[in-house]
Amino acid sequence: MTEQTYHANAQQKLDLMKKGAFLTTAFGGKVNTMVIGWGSIGYMWRLPIFTALVRQNRFTHGLLEKTGQFTVTFPTQELPEALQICGTKSGRNMDKLAACGLTVAPARKIETPRLAVPGYHYECKVLYKTTMSAQDLDKAIKELWYEKEPGDYHTLYFGEILDSYQTH
Ligand SMILES: Cc1cc2nc3c(=O)[nH]c(=O)nc-3n(C[C@H](O)[C@H](O)[C@H](O)COP(=O)(O)O)c2cc1C
Repeated sequence: MTEQTYHANAQQKLDLMKKGAFLTTAFGGKVNTMVIGWGSIGYMWRLPIFTALVRQNRFTHGLLEKTGQFTVTFPTQELPEALQICGTKSGRNMDKLAACGLTVAPARKIETPRLAVPGYHYECKVLYKTTMSAQDLDKAIKELWYEKEPGDYHTLYFGEILDSYQTH
C-alpha cells in the first residue's frame, strides 16, 4: 500500500472516531476499554503511527504505562450503551466490558486483546510518549480544555501500528 492510499484509508477511519472509538489495554489479567475522540494516524520514523491522547487521571493511563501496548477499535455498528459506559465510568472501580456486554478477542501481534465487535482494529506498540506541559500550550486551548481538571494534561502515546484489519 502506498503512503497516499494508507492515509486515505486512515482518514476514513478517523472520521469514524468522531462518534467515539475504543482504546483497549490489559495488565495482570485485567482488561479495560475507554472511549477516545481524539487521535491521529500518520507516519513517524518511516513507520505507521497511531497517536492517542490519554489524560493522566484515566485508569487506562496506568495500564498503558505498565504495558506500552494498546488496541484501538472503530466499530462499524452503533454501540450507544458501550460508548456511554466506557466513556464516562472508570475501569478502576468496575468491569466495564461486562457492564456493557462486550467481550474481547486475541490480537494478532500483541498480547493486549481487541474488542470483539465488527469494526476496524489497530494493534499498537508504544514507541514514544510525552506529557503536555502547561508552559508550552496555547493559552486559549489551555483555558478551553484544561481548566476544569487543572493539571490533568494528556499524555500522547505514539504507537507503532503493528497490524490493522477489519472484522465483520
Ligand atoms: C466521545 C468521548 C471521547 C473521549 N475522548 C477521550 C480522549 O481522547 N482521551 C481521554 O483521555 N479521555 C477521553 N474520553 C473520556 C474517557 O473515555 C473517560 O474518562 C473514561 O471513563 C476513562 O476510563 P478509564 O478510567 O477506565 O480509563 C472521552 C469520552 C467520550 C464520551
